[in-house]
Amino acid sequence: MRSNKINIGLIGFGTIGSSVAKFLLENRGLLLKRTGMDFNLKLVCDKDLSANRGVNIPKSMLTKDIDRVINDPDIDIVVELVGGIHPAKEIVLKALSKGKHVVTANKLLLASEGEKIFQRAGDLNREIYFEASVAGGIPIIKAIREGMVGNRFSSILGILNGTSNFILSSMSNYGTSFKAALKEAQGKGYAERDPSLDIKGLDSSHKLAILSLLAFGKKVDLDDIYVEGIEDISTLDIQYAKEFGYVVKLLGIAKRYGDELEIRVHPTLLPSEYLLSSVSGVYNAIFIEADLVGKQLFYGQGAGKLPTTSAIVSDIIDIGNKIICGKSPAKSVIPDKSEIRKIRKMDDVITRYYVHFSAIDKPGVLAKIADLLGKHNISIASVVQKERREAHIVPIVMLTHEAREKDMQAALSSINRLSAIKKKSVVIRLEK
Ligand code: HSE
Repeated sequence: MRSNKINIGLIGFGTIGSSVAKFLLENRGLLLKRTGMDFNLKLVCDKDLSANRGVNIPKSMLTKDIDRVINDPDIDIVVELVGGIHPAKEIVLKALSKGKHVVTANKLLLASEGEKIFQRAGDLNREIYFEASVAGGIPIIKAIREGMVGNRFSSILGILNGTSNFILSSMSNYGTSFKAALKEAQGKGYAERDPSLDIKGLDSSHKLAILSLLAFGKKVDLDDIYVEGIEDISTLDIQYAKEFGYVVKLLGIAKRYGDELEIRVHPTLLPSEYLLSSVSGVYNAIFIEADLVGKQLFYGQGAGKLPTTSAIVSDIIDIGNKIICGKSPAKSVIPDKSEIRKIRKMDDVITRYYVHFSAIDKPGVLAKIADLLGKHNISIASVVQKERREAHIVPIVMLTHEAREKDMQAALSSINRLSAIKKKSVVIRLEK
């Protein structure tokens, strides 16, 4: 019988890596008591070993050589915390082929190459766990794979990017400008190295792709996800939305209609009384609907070294169970091709809209706008004309009933061409 000792090799000794290393070194006894397994951090690898990481690691455990970790026959689990696609992909695939199980926090890698990697892990009877790749410390992957394993999922609405949520919350609660709020988020260390991944909605789309694979059995190409970021959202629109009883959130939305999946990321108006609407600051939340459990909301810290460490440690323990007991606690992540056959085109999405027109204040303008909307099958649910803010220009703000995206875009391009319209109209989709 094998001993209860599980050896771990860590590749990537940055903020998260050093936090995981510190936890493993300081809590070996605690984990032994709680799990009956002895988790031993054996090697830590990084290309820079000179920086002070705030954790004392014996020199003999440190290496710059990735192969030393991957080729070490004693290492059972490789924890990949390098980030990005290369060389993370090569590290993960090589580790699997050398018989290691893998834990990764790498959402970009899994969202783009997940199918191949999961397939490879499955072929080799190895495990790859990735709880930290989505929503930091919230155990959403475990909840979908295990806690709700008997369910058929119908929709996911997620606030999946803490930086964007922090920015939108600051703009909404304090009237802070987009630029100032972004600067503050960066100062607090929430943003990705390249903040455009956060504010352009890409980080959310990577996370949504992973959740959709798990919930709907569908590997979605990142290019098939409609993505719009928050850079064009103004404090004024947030204010107008509030007056209609809505808040603006950057949402990742995936909905199933039979064998068709709708999947998109964009700023969204949500009724202020929804629980999801009260998720403020850097927090993440995922609202799920499924046939057995009904509606569920998961809420917590979506980033930061400690919540991420929590997720990584949980993955290590699950793999430890597989190693010792021979059975993985989670369902497989190989896509199920019988479930979803088609991704709905954005043009065919049906939703409600908030629209803000900047128009000349003269008789007949509102009638012209309403006429063009009507001609494209778009029905107005409510409309407000605001006081002038600039000479001769008035904001006309409306909410529509449900309409097809294609019709809305066609109506907007006709309306934007009217001589009475002085700025590009603002459109934000709405969930109810
Ligand atoms: N930059 C991400 C966010 C955290 O702001 O949510 C890591 O996924």
